[in-house]
Amino acid sequence: MTYQVILPAAGQGKRMGAGKNKLLLELNGIPVLIHTLRVFEQDEACSGIILAIHPQDKPEFQVLLDRYHVTKVNNLVSGGNERQDSIYNALKSVETEGIILVHDAARPFILKEHIHRLIEMAEETGAAILGVPAKDTMKKINDGVVVETVERSSLWAVQTPQAFRILLLKEAYERAEKDHFLGTDDASLVERLHYPVAVVEGDYDNIKLTTPEDLFFAEAIIEKRKRLDQGKK
Ligand code: CTP
Ligand code: MG
Repeated sequence: MTYQVILPAAGQGKRMGAGKNKLLLELNGIPVLIHTLRVFEQDEACSGIILAIHPQDKPEFQVLLDRYHVTKVNNLVSGGNERQDSIYNALKSVETEGIILVHDAARPFILKEHIHRLIEMAEETGAAILGVPAKDTMKKINDGVVVETVERSSLWAVQTPQAFRILLLKEAYERAEKDHFLGTDDASLVERLHYPVAVVEGDYDNIKLTTPEDLFFAEAIIEKRKRLDQGKK
């Protein structure tokens, strides 16, 4: 089992409001970007990392890659206006076949165990995504008024990573570009071509750092993991 991973990291972090790319913010003294990269750096099944970055971040990112001895980034590509553009640019640089993973650089808590389950599923089915069952009651709202309560048991919150056979994802991205379709995740591009997408259950810690309060949740997850590690010793 081997795979390559595309990490979109070319956003601006507007909702975080830090005045810079949120991936440069530190958790436990280490930039978010490095937390995420380390997961793949330390996974023997990961054969290469393609990082999509904003050209203005390049000097700073390069310094971090050197400082933290990240060796698996074999391609730094320019991001685009939308996340989908960034990933498409990265995907164009991938020439081999096999499995490709797409993972938001802003999700530093992804576990190797879940990555591997996802890869196995994608090898079998062609496309697999990580998600968790919705916890809240979900309602459809229109103009501030409830339209209906949606049956929760069939609703899942979907995360990254998402794993695909490379040729399938390339086809989906090419078709999306041709049709001017902009999706909110990678799997939606595959779904519209009517290919099946399998779901693997992940965990609720795999949050995306989006708004400032997420940094507090992130600190709590780090503390929880430290305590669990101490308990094992
Ligand atoms: N991303 C990207 N290219 C873009 C937009 C986003 O590579 N044009 C990346 C981000 O760097 C992030 C991931 O996609 O790792 C998920 O995006 P999001 O959480 O929306 O991050 P930002 O776009 O940076 O944040 P915001 O939308 O608040 O500006
Ligand atoms: Mg964004």
